[in-house]
Amino acid sequence: AKNPLKVLVTGAAGQIGYALVPMIARGAMLGPDQPVIIHMLDISPAAEALNGVKMELVDASFPLLKGVVATTDVVEACNGVNIAVMVGGFPRKEGMERKDVMSKNVSIYKAQASALEKHAAPDCKVLVVANPANTNALILKEFAPSIPDKNITCLTRLDHNRALGQISEKLNVHVGDVKNVIIWGNHSSTQYPDANHATVNTVNGDKLVPDLVGDDKWLKTEFIATVQQRGAAIIKARKLSSALSAASSACDHIRDWVLGTPKGNWVSMGVYSDGSYGIPAGLIYSFPVTCDKGEWSIVQGLKIDEFSREKMDATAKELMEEKSLAYSCLN
Ligand code: NAI
Repeated sequence: AKNPLKVLVTGAAGQIGYALVPMIARGAMLGPDQPVIIHMLDISPAAEALNGVKMELVDASFPLLKGVVATTDVVEACNGVNIAVMVGGFPRKEGMERKDVMSKNVSIYKAQASALEKHAAPDCKVLVVANPANTNALILKEFAPSIPDKNITCLTRLDHNRALGQISEKLNVHVGDVKNVIIWGNHSSTQYPDANHATVNTVNGDKLVPDLVGDDKWLKTEFIATVQQRGAAIIKARKLSSALSAASSACDHIRDWVLGTPKGNWVSMGVYSDGSYGIPAGLIYSFPVTCDKGEWSIVQGLKIDEFSREKMDATAKELMEEKSLAYSCLN
């Protein structure tokens, strides 16, 4: 039998946390033969609720679940973790300035970076979910210099999965037959959902999505806007954030990263830019990646048309602005 892996979930008493921990305990994140120990962190006002989640994890009798730590102590939470899913953060409240929200999250991610650096397993893989996800991940990277850059990522897989879902509905095909969409850039409304290279598996082999849709306008307008604004649409409908799909996509992100992407498939991940596709190095930017043996690599050589170029640059520009706002909060 495999040794258990320790998985940290911060903000575990929240909406996404509540959906995510049972998925991890059922093997959706690391596979059906990988035992896990779940470390849950939240802040003191949520300590009682967090303990309630721990009680439910015990009550659900998950065979893969070898232990649960529920704590408000960041050191205890980070101790020896192999995977860290950072869902905790400070939400934007009505009337709050962008800078104030950024400032709160910068201080949270700076502190948690130091704790991870000191106490997590040396090869710990980090996924930041909490918004502003890309910039929180960048701050985490900057303040955990001993964790390799390649191990710090942010979640854009939900946007990627949303794009697959929209194409499957438009073409009336099963979502499992659609692949290779791309989310470029920031996990925000400037992200660029790109279906130019996406394909559908049909009885006549793989067909390009733009050829099947046959309506360039839909792909350039409604498709992009729907994916970009899907988070807001869910909040409007549920009065709560998209917890189920965020949790499921977080499992997809880690599973593909650790266990590998299927041959011929890529996925979108927010990763530390190396300058690929002319995106400035030193940003956490969402790219198409393939994963093998626990390492992601950016898919190279895709043709980028003028429309795409403009959208990819616009979202990079927003990330540069977020980065300087974050740095101004550090001083
Ligand atoms: P929530 O408000 O229900 O839960 C957040 C939890 O974080 C709360 O329990 C809170 O007490 C905790 N928390 C706050 N500060 C903390 C700290 N310093 N350390 C540990 N825990 C802390 O929010 P929800 O709906 O679960 O969303 C969580 C985050 O994920 C939000 O920032 C949201 O915007 C983001 N999100 C990101 C998505 C993505 O695709 N990247 C999709 C959906 C949401």
